[in-house]
Amino acid sequence: MEKYHFVKIMKYRIPLFSLLLLSTSGLFAAEALTDLQNLGKSIFFDPTLSEPAGQSCASCHDPVHGFADPDQHLPTSEGVIKGLFGSRNTPSVAYAAFSPELFFDPEEEHFVGGQFLDGRSANLEEQAQGPFLNPVEMANPDIKSVVRKIRKAPYAAKFDKIFGSGALKYTDVAYDHIASAIAAYQRSSEVNQFTSKYDYYLAGKAALTAEERFGLELFEAEDKGNCAACHISKSENTDMPPLFTDFTYDNLGVPKNPENPIYKMDKQFNPYGDAIVDKGLGASIRVGRSEHNGKFKVNTLRNIDKTAPYMHNGVFATLKEVVDFYNTRDVSDKWGEPEVSENINNEELGDLKLSDEEVDAIVAFMKTLTDGFQVDSKTK
Ligand code: HEC
Ligand code: HEC
Repeated sequence: MEKYHFVKIMKYRIPLFSLLLLSTSGLFAAEALTDLQNLGKSIFFDPTLSEPAGQSCASCHDPVHGFADPDQHLPTSEGVIKGLFGSRNTPSVAYAAFSPELFFDPEEEHFVGGQFLDGRSANLEEQAQGPFLNPVEMANPDIKSVVRKIRKAPYAAKFDKIFGSGALKYTDVAYDHIASAIAAYQRSSEVNQFTSKYDYYLAGKAALTAEERFGLELFEAEDKGNCAACHISKSENTDMPPLFTDFTYDNLGVPKNPENPIYKMDKQFNPYGDAIVDKGLGASIRVGRSEHNGKFKVNTLRNIDKTAPYMHNGVFATLKEVVDFYNTRDVSDKWGEPEVSENINNEELGDLKLSDEEVDAIVAFMKTLTDGFQVDSKTK
């Protein structure tokens, strides 16, 4: 298994592999996948690995939809078993690889990093072991059933080639190999492309429109959007392009989503009905302290135009609604009560005094963050 080395970048330490990934791939060159990454890709897209068959990781993390859920009309995702839903909006897996393992920053007195919206998995290897067994996701009864399915898959022979003969023989060891292959794919330049219009703009190879440029200014200005305070838009002292998150946690006072399917689920999955509250980081198995109730990890905004709906409970359908919320949370009565009323960030958002035009410009800027920009046809 890969060792983690950390270097100090911007404010936080980012796993060293991220730098290797960039230095070997160059900024815009799509690197061929390694054997291990290819194997991980086969697993990631294999719909026979759920119980019953029919759902893969990609069913909820679809590359065409920025590696998030294609079912954009649903606030949260349906598992392989009809009628069973998770309680949270599916995030993109693109750029998740850059999240450092969860740690507490004593200077700032906050948590940083981890996988999942509440940081409960340390890294991608640990995370990848979860969805196969989650009853509201791929619903396998145990790891034995997952490994049994993998042994029958067309790519099974590759395990021996990569990990040595007998790689799938012992269930526990095999399950770790499966997770490391998936993690390797999620670290590849196919998942982390850095090919948005904004990347080309930073490299001097594309121009933003006047509205997009205005949006970028507002996004960064402390007395305007102030978005870049958490969704980092510039790289400092490094070649590493900005990730549009600092991987910290915050309670934005996002309202409950009355449409969250979790409220209607069976008592076995949700004994609290519509009184259930998602406390996020405060209830995470790695944290479990009420002073962090209501905080969720800052999402990357890369590919954000493709990953509606928004926020941990999918309460907002459009980017315009999101910016409107940041803009008027504290001065309009159209927003519902916050899902968690403690620990709300009242300093950086809530009454931004942005005009309609400014809100639209910020949205236009966020749309430049979608990977796959064709530099030749659209530059001028
Ligand atoms: C039914 C939909 C569904 C399936 C299938 C699914 N996921 Fe997810 N994924 C989610 C949701 C929802 C979350 C956020 C859950 C949370 O924070 O509690 C998530 C979170 C993640 C994250 C963390 C991202 C971050 O920014 O913190 C990664 C990585 C991930 N999934 C990878 C996978 C892999 C690998 C598979 C297949 C083994 C998979 N997922 C299968 C819905 C799904
Ligand atoms: C204080 C830190 C902070 C600031 C400032 C901030 N955000 Fe966020 N942003 C977050 C956090 C935390 C979340 C996730 C909250 C949740 O799910 O409850 C988030 C979520 C989002 C999402 C939804 C992401 C998704 O995948 O669902 C968008 C879009 C977004 N922010 C855009 C912006 C814009 C635009 C601005 C400036 C107007 C901004 N943010 C300012 C912390 C911040």
